[in-house]
Amino acid sequence: MESWATFGGDLHLDLTAGRARGLGLREALEDALRTAVRDGRLSPGTRLPSSRVLSGDLGIARNTVAEAYAQLSAEGWLASRQGSGTVVAERGTPSATAAPAIRPRRPAVRYELLAGRPDVSRFPRSAWLAAARRALAVAPHEALSYSDPRGRIELRRALAEYLARVRGVRTDPERILICSGYTQGLGLLCGALRERGVRALAVEEYGLPPQQQVITAAGLATVPLPLDEGGARTDLLAGSDVGAAVLTPAHQFPTGVPLRAARRAAAVAWARESGGIVIEDDYDGEFRYDRQPVGAMQALDPERVVYAGTASKSLAPGLRLGWLVLPGDLVEPVVRQKELADGQSGAFEQLTLAELITSGGFDRHIRRSRLHYRRRRDQLVATLAERAPRVRVTGIAAGLHAVVRLPPDSLSEHELRSQAAWLGLSLQTLSECRTPAAGPAPDQAPALVIGYGTPPEHAFAPALEALCTLLRL
Ligand SMILES: Cc1ncc(COP(=O)(O)O)c(C=O)c1O
Repeated sequence: MESWATFGGDLHLDLTAGRARGLGLREALEDALRTAVRDGRLSPGTRLPSSRVLSGDLGIARNTVAEAYAQLSAEGWLASRQGSGTVVAERGTPSATAAPAIRPRRPAVRYELLAGRPDVSRFPRSAWLAAARRALAVAPHEALSYSDPRGRIELRRALAEYLARVRGVRTDPERILICSGYTQGLGLLCGALRERGVRALAVEEYGLPPQQQVITAAGLATVPLPLDEGGARTDLLAGSDVGAAVLTPAHQFPTGVPLRAARRAAAVAWARESGGIVIEDDYDGEFRYDRQPVGAMQALDPERVVYAGTASKSLAPGLRLGWLVLPGDLVEPVVRQKELADGQSGAFEQLTLAELITSGGFDRHIRRSRLHYRRRRDQLVATLAERAPRVRVTGIAAGLHAVVRLPPDSLSEHELRSQAAWLGLSLQTLSECRTPAAGPAPDQAPALVIGYGTPPEHAFAPALEALCTLLRL
């Protein structure tokens, strides 16, 4: 048994031997380390040099070392440990069959840490089934036919009450339109705005990537709004040449900052003066953890702000249920877009959600989910503080994701993404959420957008483990 100090010198020789056998640099490094662990030259608990130090010692690219560490961690030969960097794994030597000399195929995704998704294993199946049964038992025959393109009146009534109570939205059922998630809602709004002559929309400089595609597909241009600690710079809207602004006021996606009161007021003032429209994407408004919920900004001016909500976080994205609360003069143009798009949304899901809301089942589910996600957020923050103390976690007061900011000397976002794939982790980098019109991100330390909602309960701790391994490479 040896420590790194005594083994390290062999590595050059082993590496050269591997290269002589025709292996690539990374494969040769992996092979040398596997062999050293297997034959006991590197004992469990031995601390390996950081990827930066070893790459310097060997005169090879740091990414090559980081990739080898990631691969060997995924195979169970190495582990990352608090205060010790990367070490030889304690839990015995993996079997010989798990130690291929040739690089295996990239592992399939084992853990999803994608932002903006809930833990669908928590979908309230029995409550949903019971609500569906009750709803169908009393639904009139006409509910099963073509009906109002705005959606079922039962759901519009239930939402008007719920949104006023929980988010402070000012509306009545006549101004609510049920759509196939926020994605369709945004498309309908873009269509209606374009018909009115709008040519460009302001969007936050970081945002939901598919949103950009929806706006572009509707033939509209985007103008980026810079972000700072107060949220989007809505003070810059005055004087801009846009007809609408899309904002995420409660919890900016993905940075997580709430839009300051003065910025909300500035957006509404701009809309009033210019005849513009604010589209408020309230995608995770129900999940706020540390203080009172930040109310919807639609209440500031229901004639200038469209409120957009979705069941994708609170229940499941697969439901494809969303809603728009519209200013009076947008109801008819948006309804026309909905008729063109698909006539109306499915009645069964709408009736069931209406029943779930009015029976109190939805509130119960939200309360339980809020507790669950809050615990997960706390676990993420505590685990990273202990295991990856050099990273900073931001944007955590609400929602289902956090931004994990790494020190400037870490692997690049691109490298992190490819290492994550080797660890079976699927995640997004902050730059991937950058609005294309905003151009390349300024030189900034790498950051990851980590969704902590997605993994089912049994997979959450291992997913965090894999994340810590990645952050320590
Ligand atoms: C910022 C943001 N808005 C809205 C949504 C919801 O989209 P949809 O309702 O189409 O599922 C998401 C989902 O990921 C999101 O991240």
